[in-house]
Amino acid sequence: MGELEHMRRTRDGYDSAAAQYLQLFGNSLREYPLDDAMIGAFADLVRGGSRPVLDVGCGPGYVTDRLRALGVRARGLDLSSEMVALARETFPDIEFEQGRMAEVALPDGSLDGLLSRSSIIHTPPGDLPAVFAEFHRLLAPGGHLLLTFQAHVDDAELAWPFDHKVAPAYRWSVGRVAALLREAGLQETARMVVAPELDPIRGFHYGHLLFRKPVTESM
Ligand SMILES: C[S@@+](CC[C@H](N)C(=O)[O-])C[C@H]1O[C@@H](n2cnc3c(N)ncnc32)[C@H](O)[C@@H]1O
Repeated sequence: MGELEHMRRTRDGYDSAAAQYLQLFGNSLREYPLDDAMIGAFADLVRGGSRPVLDVGCGPGYVTDRLRALGVRARGLDLSSEMVALARETFPDIEFEQGRMAEVALPDGSLDGLLSRSSIIHTPPGDLPAVFAEFHRLLAPGGHLLLTFQAHVDDAELAWPFDHKVAPAYRWSVGRVAALLREAGLQETARMVVAPELDPIRGFHYGHLLFRKPVTESM
């Protein structure tokens, strides 16, 4: 499947599923206390900055709203116009834009933080370096990234396809994703790998990677 076809399927799939997704997951953070703990740690790192924080692949916006409740100037971006419409309707005080994570219409260094939760899973594996290069471009020096994804602890492969109702999806090797983030110029701050027993839906590991853009880039 070509890149554009892959993106079209993802966008159309989430357009159709948006209302159901909000109903199913809109209050789900309490079922994922470790996700919420990482979001809290990320919020502590980015709170009070002069630049906004972008929730990339924000879906219906409930994580963006959680960041806002934690005192972060957060805004959201999603590929699906239906998700964006729903997020705007549900959280009218937060800015949400439609767009692609590999090409965000914001200037270089314009973000103090970037969070992406369960949204790189639909990226074709060959496109992941371009997405991480874009995250690096968008972050200001010293800015923080929190990346959360369905994971695999076997580093033999980068991507492990899985059966997803909405669009083709991949679990990612935590070690290999961390290596790609380093290749993009980001530095690791912390990582958490949640045991499969805590995933009530599929029984997958979850990877949470906290990285930052160096304050000064090496030449
Ligand atoms: C599984 S949902 C996660 C939504 C939300 N982050 C959460 O934690 O519930 C994946 C979201 O990523 C979005 N997405 C997938 N590929 C994207 C891309 N290339 N650019 C922007 N958003 C994308 C989808 O439209 C969908 O809303």
